Amino acid sequence: MKVVTTIAELRKILAALPKPLGLVPTMGYLHEGHLSLVRRARGECVSVVVSIFVNPTQFGENEDLSAYPRDLDRDFDLLGAEGADLVWTPTQEEIYPVGYQTWVTVENLSQMLEGHHRPGHFRGVTTVVAKLFNATQPDKAYFGQKDAQQAVVIRRMTEDLNFPLEVVVCPTLREPDGLAMSSRNTYLDPKQRQAATVVYRSLAAAVQAFETGERDAEVLRNRMSEVLSTEPLAEPQYVSVANPETLEELNGSVERSLFSMAVYVGKTRLIDNVVVGD
Ligand code: PAJ
Repeated sequence: MKVVTTIAELRKILAALPKPLGLVPTMGYLHEGHLSLVRRARGECVSVVVSIFVNPTQFGENEDLSAYPRDLDRDFDLLGAEGADLVWTPTQEEIYPVGYQTWVTVENLSQMLEGHHRPGHFRGVTTVVAKLFNATQPDKAYFGQKDAQQAVVIRRMTEDLNFPLEVVVCPTLREPDGLAMSSRNTYLDPKQRQAATVVYRSLAAAVQAFETGERDAEVLRNRMSEVLSTEPLAEPQYVSVANPETLEELNGSVERSLFSMAVYVGKTRLIDNVVVGD
């Protein structure tokens, strides 16, 4: 496995790698969720490149950019074991050189759900992902359903800007107690880690209600809120039942829908989602 930093080095090595090429964009501090994307790419592509870049432009002013966990050596070991061909770890200056002023914005989808609470977040995501696509020119790019809105926004961008690649969205990997794997879970102390299980339990309660015939969006949202309210350490920021494609909040009777939420446990902001009615 090769590790490169600059775009020039990256291009040189990519030119010699056989196609099809799969790209797995990450911010590092890898866990099984990330590795499941690498495995999927490994299974579907001849060459696999993984990018590791903690992208400053997708963090809000009061967010956890400086605290974001990093352990490149551990990441390299994990990726080597998965059979990645190439890891790209650009510097901030490589991605955003002095004078940088070009941004990619997916207008409406970026304003919904997460975007409402994290203004500018998706502008940072789409800009960096467009740059990763341009630099690596993959045939397929792999993203997790864990960040459901991110996947929808990136699909839209890929289509709108005619990137000649396929966006593949992979299922959310969870801990045995249901907590969605996330690099941010490392912020949780043992009590908070226990409390964090309420996120998936509340989604599971709404799924169960849906599966036993409940269709009213408000009742389903209330079901999630009810379960969340049983955990004193959990502070929900939003609880949503939305259209999985347009991300618009739904009212009345629903069929296929995205149940999603953001919940603070202490200072840690956890997000999770499930799609029902597939
Ligand atoms: P990061 O949070 O490191 O996640 C990298 C990829 O792993 C994303 O596509 C994310 O959805 C996926 N992922 C995270 N947790 C997962 C889980 N439990 N199961 C399955 N997949 C999971 O998302 C980002 O980085 C950044 O926004 C990025 C796309 C790299 C742009 O900076």
